[in-house]
Amino acid sequence: MTQLPGLLDTEAIRKDFPILDRLVHDDRKLVYLDNAATSQKPRQVLDALSEYYERYNANVHRGVHVLAEEATALYEGARDKVAAFINAPSRDEVIFTKNASESLNLVANMLGWADEPYRVDSETEIVITEMEHHSNIVPWQLLSQRTGAKLKWFGLTDEGRLDLSNIDEVITEKTKIVSFVLVSNILGTLNPVEAIVRRAQEVGALVLIDASQAAPHMPLDVQALQADFVAFTGHKMCGPTGIGVLWGRQELLEDLPPFLGGGEMIETVSMHSSTYAPAPHKFEAGTPPIAQAVGLGAAIDYLSSIGMDKILAHEHALTEYAVRKLGEVPDLRIIGPTTAEDRGAAISFTLGDIHPHDVGQVLDEQGIAVRVGHHCARPVCLRYGIPATTRASFYLYSTPAEIDALVDGLEHVRNFFG
Ligand code: ALA
Repeated sequence: MTQLPGLLDTEAIRKDFPILDRLVHDDRKLVYLDNAATSQKPRQVLDALSEYYERYNANVHRGVHVLAEEATALYEGARDKVAAFINAPSRDEVIFTKNASESLNLVANMLGWADEPYRVDSETEIVITEMEHHSNIVPWQLLSQRTGAKLKWFGLTDEGRLDLSNIDEVITEKTKIVSFVLVSNILGTLNPVEAIVRRAQEVGALVLIDASQAAPHMPLDVQALQADFVAFTGHKMCGPTGIGVLWGRQELLEDLPPFLGGGEMIETVSMHSSTYAPAPHKFEAGTPPIAQAVGLGAAIDYLSSIGMDKILAHEHALTEYAVRKLGEVPDLRIIGPTTAEDRGAAISFTLGDIHPHDVGQVLDEQGIAVRVGHHCARPVCLRYGIPATTRASFYLYSTPAEIDALVDGLEHVRNFFG
């Protein structure tokens, strides 16, 4: 068995994930390499979800009975866990949403409805990058269409990194918001936050970081990032679906207007007007995803018990191994950085002129789950002149043997297609 320095004890960890023992296509051992799409869930999270529904289920913040108080304590306790996990200065800066897309849309809408100095209008500019997930492109296109603000972006180098050579022309005095991904879901690139934040601060622009592919895999410190907002999702980090997070600086959350109106987010309501609850409740209209937040809290406990530093080291070792082994496959072209430095554990590639959907299907027949397509980042495919990629992505339970299985599987794909 291949041993690499820095690997976690995956034999022990995999016992926590019942699904990893599954067979697919009758007798194939599952090799799950689609972790950038969603992670699997450990028993500890599954137990927290069923325990919540079996013992505590009630609506939060409005009941006087025992279950309502216990459910509220669990929901708000999950907020404390998120705050600690990302080193937020205050728990009130943690807003629960349904996913990262909703978190990103929330910021776009806050700014669209805001007064000065945050207001986005036809005199102002929005900056994103060419490697964004559609969830960090479309909300800004919508805002730009609604307000007349100009949408600008950083392009990409041939190596799959951001081209910041024209940073002073892209981020200008007119820029109101710079929104970019920390780790690309398609290229795997880890972006240079400091340089972008420094320039944004110089011109007084706000910074939003999409950390969906970072929060599950590395220590995340919102204070060190020096951004104004950070968005991520629960289901990629061992939590359930239906729960996302938007962290925002407290003074901004106090100043900015809500997007969705309804119960929970108000202070008083009359037939003429309403006043709003303080953040984070101002941004959480309606019954929130209570069980999902509790599940996310359990996921955070689980990841923290292993240690985000150790998870990062494990994935780095696997990525180094995978980049090397994939590099030996004839006709395989990695789309994105070809070394393990400054990249995450999602690796996209093409294999000769075999369509990625065919690659994915033949791999699936061997029990190997990868993602194929444009990965909701179609502009990246356009940039590199390809219709789609095959993407393998690793997590804390992934092993070198699974990478070997992928490489053998690709050999089979090549033979199959002659
Ligand atoms: N955003 C997810 C992915 O990249 C779904 O696969």
